[in-house]
Amino acid sequence: MTGLRDVLRALPVFEGELPSFDASSAPASPLELFTEWLHAAVDAGVPEPHAMTLATADAEGRPSSRVLILKDADEEGWQFATSARSPKGRELDGRPFAALSFHWPRLARQVRLRGPVASAGAERSAADFRARGADARAEALLGRQSHALISEAERRAALAEARSRLAAGPDLVAPDWTLYALRPETVEFWQGDRERHHTRLLYRRNTGGSWERGLLWA
Ligand SMILES: Cc1cc2nc3c(=O)[nH]c(=O)nc-3n(C[C@H](O)[C@H](O)[C@H](O)COP(=O)(O)O)c2cc1C
Repeated sequence: MTGLRDVLRALPVFEGELPSFDASSAPASPLELFTEWLHAAVDAGVPEPHAMTLATADAEGRPSSRVLILKDADEEGWQFATSARSPKGRELDGRPFAALSFHWPRLARQVRLRGPVASAGAERSAADFRARGADARAEALLGRQSHALISEAERRAALAEARSRLAAGPDLVAPDWTLYALRPETVEFWQGDRERHHTRLLYRRNTGGSWERGLLWA
């Protein structure tokens, strides 16, 4: 049997027809470029292009990362929703600063963001909760994300109870469900190239709110 190392070495990267990226004509705002790149990922058929990795840190600075869905991106920031009682929610409460990264392999593109994170407020969090499907609302109502699960029977019983609470009160909102916004201080756009002439463009927010841009060595 082939060893893992050999399997890994034989795997291709930066395959297929890759887009070019002319950093010199990039827009002044990273939000505009991100929107362009996200549309390009959708058009190229990248699976789940709205899935991103969120990295947070605990009180000792030890990092954790996990995949979340991007809900929106606007002047307020890149938005995601989760339980404030989850490990990531508690880490964000203690250290409201995080990193996000997107990877769109079919285009050999990566986008990385870092910045402070804040709740988008109770009203928008509730609206996000109400827009979830019935099963997703029932699961979120439990508020037990990442707690130890003793048995499937316990889970089934808790979900049945949450479903009947939602049936009795369809406007019910999980109090801990939170829409967060990461307002980036930096956003990096990374375009891969088969010959390894990768292009990296870093946007940095000035204190006045405008953006400065520069290239990075790959
Ligand atoms: C594609 C994908 C999308 C996900 N989207 C979300 C999401 O939007 N919100 C969420 O709370 N968890 C989402 N998860 C689950 C998280 O990755 C994670 O398991 C969960 O939030 C618990 O994280 P924590 O223990 O670090 O708080 C998603 C997982 C995957 C694979």
